[in-house]
Amino acid sequence: MSFSFKQSGLATCMNVTNSGFHKRLISTICSRSSFSPCLNLQNPERRNLSVSKPLHISSIEKINEKKPVFECKAYEADKSQPIEVEVKSEAAKRLKIGIYFATWWALNVVFNIYNKKVLNAYPYPWLTSTLSLACGSLMMLISWATRIAETPKTDFEFWKTLFPVAVAHTIGHVAATVSMSKVAVSFTHIIKSGEPAFSVLVSRFLLGETFPPSVYLSLVPIIGGCALAAVTELNFNMTGFMGAMISNFAFVLRNIFSKKGMKGKSVSGMNYYACLSLLSLLILTPFAVAVEGPQMWAAGWQKALSEIGPQFIWWVAAQSIFYHLYNQVSYMSLDEISPLTFSVGNTMKRISVIVSSIIIFHTPVQPINALGAAIAILGTFLYSQAKA
Ligand code: 3PG
Repeated sequence: MSFSFKQSGLATCMNVTNSGFHKRLISTICSRSSFSPCLNLQNPERRNLSVSKPLHISSIEKINEKKPVFECKAYEADKSQPIEVEVKSEAAKRLKIGIYFATWWALNVVFNIYNKKVLNAYPYPWLTSTLSLACGSLMMLISWATRIAETPKTDFEFWKTLFPVAVAHTIGHVAATVSMSKVAVSFTHIIKSGEPAFSVLVSRFLLGETFPPSVYLSLVPIIGGCALAAVTELNFNMTGFMGAMISNFAFVLRNIFSKKGMKGKSVSGMNYYACLSLLSLLILTPFAVAVEGPQMWAAGWQKALSEIGPQFIWWVAAQSIFYHLYNQVSYMSLDEISPLTFSVGNTMKRISVIVSSIIIFHTPVQPINALGAAIAILGTFLYSQAKA
């Protein structure tokens, strides 16, 4: 019979009695050279062992296997050795999530800057939205074909459940891009920081969910802050404002459908987002053609090229590539963290986007406007605390 025994140096008391079971156990412990440290348990003087916490049997496995038959662990000792490993793996996980978050925010800042540069020179948000989805889809198709990424195993049911998610993603994406074509990037993101309020309202009124009063209270600064930022926005535009609001509503629905659609599915976050891009591209293309159309696109393209020069093409490529990359990383983070941590990360992301875009585009901001943004963002933190 073999077993492993873990001991902590910490001191509480394990009393080994003279019962037959314990005698057998003790003699077996000391016959195992692998037992370390080997306690002299056969010495009657030493039968009262002092170890950290009471022992418990944590596993019983088949005799004659190399694996332990009895694994006796002192409770504290059980933690003592793995604690080091656990702390290390916990630290590694935190580092991984930290890297994901930093990458997600950085990619998002770059996307927002190039997206706005493109929209300033070429105000066709339906086409730029389509291009970013097309670019992501192409990148993933190449990755699957060259086996850089594993091709997801999907069936009809998967695509069926993905469809409402893709519709919501398409609407949210186009609406945000239309918004950014009409107002400052910072303003779109201030309004988008109100997404938790939409999440609560949709869950409450469409799904019948209830929340503790603290959650409802946290909506007051979110809604109040967004309202203050909106009424004091120097370059307010109703289409821009409504675009951000529609995007909030659509993304809340997307998250609800995503959660339902992903239950029990084994597609990774990266591949899930890739499939979402492909389906959204199919949905969006006919609408983009109908709303803007090739004639407008061609005329605008010539104008933008003549004003900006060939680097305009790089801007378009950059906004498309970075759009896919930041979304892909955000879905990869969602694989690792809870939706709540994700929403806190998303709020932090908006702060980086708001600050960097104000600096880069020299966006005029009144102190009262900044106060509104700060209150709204503080509200999202209070919301996450209340939900936690
Ligand atoms: C988009 O174009 O889809 C939006 O900019 C997305 O915004 P978000 O990912 O910051 O919510």
